[in-house]
Amino acid sequence: MNRAPSVFLVDDDRDLRKAMQQTLELAGFAVSPFPSAAEALAKLDPGFEGVVVSDIRMPGMDGLAFFRRIAELDADLPVILVTGHGDIPMAVQAIQDGVYDFIAKPFAADRLVQSARRAEEKRRLVMENRALRRAAEAASESLPLIGQTPVMERLRQTLRHIADTDVDVLVAGETGSGKEVVATLLHQWSRRRSGNFVALNCGALPETVIESELFGHEPGAFTGAVKKRIGRIEHASGGTLFLDEIEAMPPATQVKMLRVLEAREITPLGTNIVRPVDIRVVAAAKIDLGDPAERGEFREDLYYRLNVVTLSIPPLRERREDIPLLFSHFLKRASERFGREVPEISAMVRDHLMTHAWPGNVRELSHFAERVALGVEANPGKSAAPPVPSNGTLPERLERYEADILKEALTAHRGDVRETLQALGIPRKTFYDKLQRHGINRADYGRGAEES
Ligand SMILES: Nc1ncnc2c1ncn2[C@@H]1O[C@H](COP(=O)(O)OP(=O)(O)OP(=O)(O)O)[C@@H](O)[C@H]1O
Ligand SMILES: [Mg+2]
Repeated sequence: MNRAPSVFLVDDDRDLRKAMQQTLELAGFAVSPFPSAAEALAKLDPGFEGVVVSDIRMPGMDGLAFFRRIAELDADLPVILVTGHGDIPMAVQAIQDGVYDFIAKPFAADRLVQSARRAEEKRRLVMENRALRRAAEAASESLPLIGQTPVMERLRQTLRHIADTDVDVLVAGETGSGKEVVATLLHQWSRRRSGNFVALNCGALPETVIESELFGHEPGAFTGAVKKRIGRIEHASGGTLFLDEIEAMPPATQVKMLRVLEAREITPLGTNIVRPVDIRVVAAAKIDLGDPAERGEFREDLYYRLNVVTLSIPPLRERREDIPLLFSHFLKRASERFGREVPEISAMVRDHLMTHAWPGNVRELSHFAERVALGVEANPGKSAAPPVPSNGTLPERLERYEADILKEALTAHRGDVRETLQALGIPRKTFYDKLQRHGINRADYGRGAEES
């Protein structure tokens, strides 16, 4: 990542090649110079991380043919063409064909450097996108719990260690951080996977039904209990019982739950029968139950009983390095689901990824990815069609061409206003307005503008 950005530089004119090489090297590029397109092509492969700068008029393969060969190799490789002939129609055509930029000679060193920098930036984004897409593919094939930060690596390692034991686990984490993913993995990575994974949201059940849900009942146990009902705990026997939002469990139920955890048996409502259950309990909490101030009505003894092993999932903002990988995974998945091309991650989306606080954690991130996949998120990189290699918006590009044309005309006429105006065919006022807008100083083109 810290390597100098590379430029393949092709020009048959030795002096010009040397001059451009020097300019680019001064600007921090690592330049590989070539006297012909064929020689450069032989060294170029699709994974090339840099950009190409080439002259157009050359013996053998010319710049445009060179560009077409490169586009076949890798359509996202930016090519900057340089010409000494100010052929504007050709420039427009080349840009439409996907040439990244077109620079008319003579040009200021800065013009070349700016263009190469922008091209390199774009290339880096493309390569990052490709790497992420590959990593996301690998990740989604092998891992349902994505994350490469040390804390996530450790979490996965712990999961593997304890999954196949019968130890009860408390999973702590903010909303959307992946508590249910962890609970599911504990089940799937254990022998219990052949049994049921029974999830019960303690916060969503009314207090009046939670006990019959959990423990089951015999017919006539209470008004309305016509048939025998197997409770959720018994249903989970041989498998895993997932108690979600355990902090919302009513106090009376907590007492009974504690007994279940200790004795591993249940008593259905309306009976005296005690039935053994073979369960593993995984509980999830959004708050820190170990903190008396946060715990509130939650029983301390139940907390200690559950807290044999606590797995804490840190919020996404504390493992930001995982965001790009998670995001590309969700983006790919969403695009597949919506039957769309996976869009490029634009600079704007990337900024949002890295600066947003993600209070809804991974869930919020996956929803954001769905909006990007649908193209409804303000996203300059979105496009269902393959992105046209572009170098700023059309108006921006036209602006640069106009500046090039003005400079070219001024150079050709050695700064003579009357002649330049005639050549350009525009009114004097327009001419001066344009010079000002582009920051061009006419005096620079007076005597001494010797190049052709
Ligand atoms: N590390 C991860 N890798 C891949 N997907 C993840 C990861 N963490 C969370 N997800 C996904 O994010 C979403 C939210 O995760 P999950 O439902 O497990 O969160 P939660 O902590 O249970 O949230 P809540 O407290 O709101 O119930 C799910 O779609 C889940 O598949
Ligand atoms: Mg959940």
